[in-house]
Amino acid sequence: MQDLLNDIAGKMKLATERGEVANYIPQLAHVDPQQFGIAVATPDGQVFAAGDAREPFSIQSISKVFALTLALGKQGDSLWQYVGREPSGDPFNSIVQLEHESGKPRNPFINAGAIAVVDAIMMGHEPKEVLAELLSFVRFLANDDRLYFDHEVAASELEHKHRNASLAHFMKAFGRLHHDVDKVIGTYFHQCAVAMNCVQLAQAGLFLVSDGVNQVTGTRVVSAQRARRINSLMMMCGHYDGSGEFAFRVGLPGKSGVGGGILAIAPARASIAVWSPGLDNIGNSLLGTRALEMLVQETGWSVFGH
Ligand code: DON
Repeated sequence: MQDLLNDIAGKMKLATERGEVANYIPQLAHVDPQQFGIAVATPDGQVFAAGDAREPFSIQSISKVFALTLALGKQGDSLWQYVGREPSGDPFNSIVQLEHESGKPRNPFINAGAIAVVDAIMMGHEPKEVLAELLSFVRFLANDDRLYFDHEVAASELEHKHRNASLAHFMKAFGRLHHDVDKVIGTYFHQCAVAMNCVQLAQAGLFLVSDGVNQVTGTRVVSAQRARRINSLMMMCGHYDGSGEFAFRVGLPGKSGVGGGILAIAPARASIAVWSPGLDNIGNSLLGTRALEMLVQETGWSVFGH
């Protein structure tokens, strides 16, 4: 495994076509596109890493997996009143379906759905309390107390909030948000601004590898059924309108973020994190996807078989 990761990282370092770094959040536009990291964590406690696997980056939409897990813990299946579980086939920040579907977002991973999930987590609490809970949950998942919010990234996104604010106001107009729009999106921006490196992210995904149990820490995070369902949502919706392509090429549940990270789960085998800041035209890491494709080809880890 270590040789394989070294090989993949070596190839990715040399790639000339690297995609475009996200620029609609100015703070992300400054990240060096030459970076590439990969980490694989296995349920028996091994961690393999190569390239820039210990360089922190903004996890952005990958945080939606952790927020969804927390929301399901609080609300159980009643969460599905507020958000659907169908792929959208539209970009992550699209507003069009909301009008046709009376303000109910298609799934928890598009921005509108993630905003509805934050609203569900808040349950009358102030953003500060909610963020403290979110951060301690992600620290618990990763088994690492060093994780933090990058407040500069959150502030940078807040300055360019209009698209997400529109989604939130639109849902509010349908009576779908219970809290003040500014508080909900402020919380959402901070959630997206959690900084992690590939090793930490791979470790945070371990509970989805082993039926809801983080076997390294010996803690049950969710039931086996819930882990299965989160994985299925990642497979169908984790890459937005690129989810079909990701399933076709990689064949694993995965969640991308505009910071260039991807968390992918090989059930019963490993949790994998990759990061390269350059994105494809849909907003998913170009080299991250290519690296996962190579890894799966070599390991035969696709859920669809060898
Ligand atoms: O709301 C946004 O636009 C960002 N905070 C997150 C978007 C994102 O990561 C999309 N992923 N590829």
